[in-house]
Amino acid sequence: MPIFFDNVNRIFHLKAGNCSYIFGINKYDYMQHIYWGEQIEISTCNKFSYIGGKFFNSPVPKPTNIISLEECTRSEYPFYGTGDFKAPAFQTEDENGYTTNCLKFKSYKIYCGKPSLDGLPATYMENENEGQTLEITASDESIGLDLILIYTVFDKMNVITRSAKFINNSSSKLKLLRALSMSIDMEDDDFDYLQLWGGWASERHIDRKPLAHGIQSLESRRGSSSHQKNPFFSLLRKNADENSGEVFGFSLVYSGCFLAQIEVEQFNFTRVSMGINPFNFTWTLQPGCIFETPEVVMVYSNEGLGGMSRTYHKLYRERLCRGKYRDKVRPILINNWEATYFKFNSQKILNIVKDAKQLGIELFVLDDGWFGRRNDSTSSLGDWKVNLEKIPEGLYGLCSKINGIGLQFGLWFEPEMISPDSELYEVHPDWCLHIPKRERTTVRDQLVLDLSRDEICNYIIDSVGKVLKSAPITYVKWDFNRELTEIGNELLPPDMQKELCHRYVLGFYKILEKLTESFPDVLFEGCASGGGRFDPGILYYMPQIWASDNTDAISRLFIQYGTSIVYPASTISAHVSAVPNEQTHRITPLSTRGNVAMSGNLGYELDLNILDNDDKAEIKNQVEKYKALRYLIQKSDLYRLKNPFEEDTCAIMYVSQDKKDAAIFCTRIICKTAFMHIERLKLHGLNKDVLYEIVGENIFSTGSELMKIGLDYSDLDKDFTSKIWILKAKERC
Ligand code: DGJ
Repeated sequence: MPIFFDNVNRIFHLKAGNCSYIFGINKYDYMQHIYWGEQIEISTCNKFSYIGGKFFNSPVPKPTNIISLEECTRSEYPFYGTGDFKAPAFQTEDENGYTTNCLKFKSYKIYCGKPSLDGLPATYMENENEGQTLEITASDESIGLDLILIYTVFDKMNVITRSAKFINNSSSKLKLLRALSMSIDMEDDDFDYLQLWGGWASERHIDRKPLAHGIQSLESRRGSSSHQKNPFFSLLRKNADENSGEVFGFSLVYSGCFLAQIEVEQFNFTRVSMGINPFNFTWTLQPGCIFETPEVVMVYSNEGLGGMSRTYHKLYRERLCRGKYRDKVRPILINNWEATYFKFNSQKILNIVKDAKQLGIELFVLDDGWFGRRNDSTSSLGDWKVNLEKIPEGLYGLCSKINGIGLQFGLWFEPEMISPDSELYEVHPDWCLHIPKRERTTVRDQLVLDLSRDEICNYIIDSVGKVLKSAPITYVKWDFNRELTEIGNELLPPDMQKELCHRYVLGFYKILEKLTESFPDVLFEGCASGGGRFDPGILYYMPQIWASDNTDAISRLFIQYGTSIVYPASTISAHVSAVPNEQTHRITPLSTRGNVAMSGNLGYELDLNILDNDDKAEIKNQVEKYKALRYLIQKSDLYRLKNPFEEDTCAIMYVSQDKKDAAIFCTRIICKTAFMHIERLKLHGLNKDVLYEIVGENIFSTGSELMKIGLDYSDLDKDFTSKIWILKAKERC
């Protein structure tokens, strides 16, 4: 059993994969963190005072005259007002305006399997043998608050998930001012922390820094998880690198405003907490009501950052993504956005589709501009009816023609938005987020629908559903091109206005749950002006996400490398586009554009009709190659070999679970010397005793040779050149 309770010493020991997570209840009924790291065995003798910190079961209520007990012990879910002055995990305000809390352990239960969260995405188990759950009930009796802390342990993975449930058992209202999903006090501060930061067209760049005293935090106040900060960070031991050392990962399954905070205080504990951003948030809990937080997925690795990433990849690929496409290889698509922007008609589309068929492409995606009167960004969002001027045969007619040529058909939507110039806005000018008497800020000429309102969610479900029923559409690109402003709702009472951001996210999830359930055969792809909402919450509904509007191959190396820190290749959509690149004006060879896109879910986003025959032949080869490789790329273990943020080359490799197949992707970003010396890529994850063939090169090397001596890549001696090597196991040596 992965969860143990020592009821003499009141210690909980959670064993996940090869790690241990231990906390206890001290004699004052406070929950105190003890240990998270490599798996250990603990004795049941009564000797936990030193493991739990000097004061774990201190006989005196206040260990010194100047410092409270709470201040110098490690809390499992800290509260504010009784002597711990670091950031609390939660805080309430009662009817009298008092904001002090005191949380004491009451009871626990342990059971097999994992509960789902009400209205929120979360990782799941397919059967109860995959792990266990511990629910701790603690209460703040003087205000009638019960709190259930939920811990789930995945038996075979180094994964512990945490969330919290607040229950108002009093007869008066309670306001939650802060309700984070988890908190943990690590024993020391000997860590670096790594975050994924960025902006539009430069998402998820890696930033690693030593911890400092005080608070370091990453957060979004944008209404979405954002381009700027991903809801993830990790703590790394100073000596931890890509392949070795201890790394602790924290990833929030949520798509809205979040906070991830690390605080190092006087005793050098590192307090880590994560959850819904308390900024601009409160939640009024009426008597008898419950508030559930989103889930944080905590991963332990003693195989460096790479080990942490592989655990997240497997978990998110197999136990977060859902539906028909979770286990299927993804179709190779062509999208018309960068080929035509808003300027297309069905004839143009069909011409692209015909060429795409010749090249082996499987799915055509009609992007923005197919509906209402939309010929640029200024109108029609919300009017989900086909524009018959551009597509006279209607969607069904166009789709039938595309299917007739031999491609599937996919469609772009941006359902959360409304254009002030739209039929929908004429009828419902009050449906957008707004504050009476304040000007409504438009971004990209659009406003955001208020998804906290049921009738608006239902409108989206009905109008998108109607289109999906009207034609055999097998793919949806769900876009979101601006963030939330004027966050107000005239129908909510004043003390609920600060619930709106979270209510928006709950409405969004409700819509996605309904649509993905009603259209199980449709592959949904998330998008937000590129990768502005690339988070685990989205992946629960949509198993792949457009990584960035920046389609330049070199920029993509950085974006995709950073994204791979948490997210598996099967979730990362990557397209080949024309040169000079629209965003960076860079010219890169088609082979490199293909190789970079092939390391995720391959697609194309250029006008095939204007390519010459050589380019077409090359694309045909890429498509053929990807079809042979995609299972390996989308389902295997990733090893990062060369970090573009640190070196002049980017290299990664995928290795199948049985270690018989591997693919290595290597791109020279810039050649720093005129005469390159021999340079070798030291591979990882292979079977050292097996002889591998380097396919197409008539070279055979042992796994140990490839891992210890390496693969010569010095022929990549020009800027932006790249190569894919494919390895096949031959025999044991
Ligand atoms: C932003 C997306 O990221 C693009 O791929 C494209 O779909 C445009 N929106 C369309 O408006």
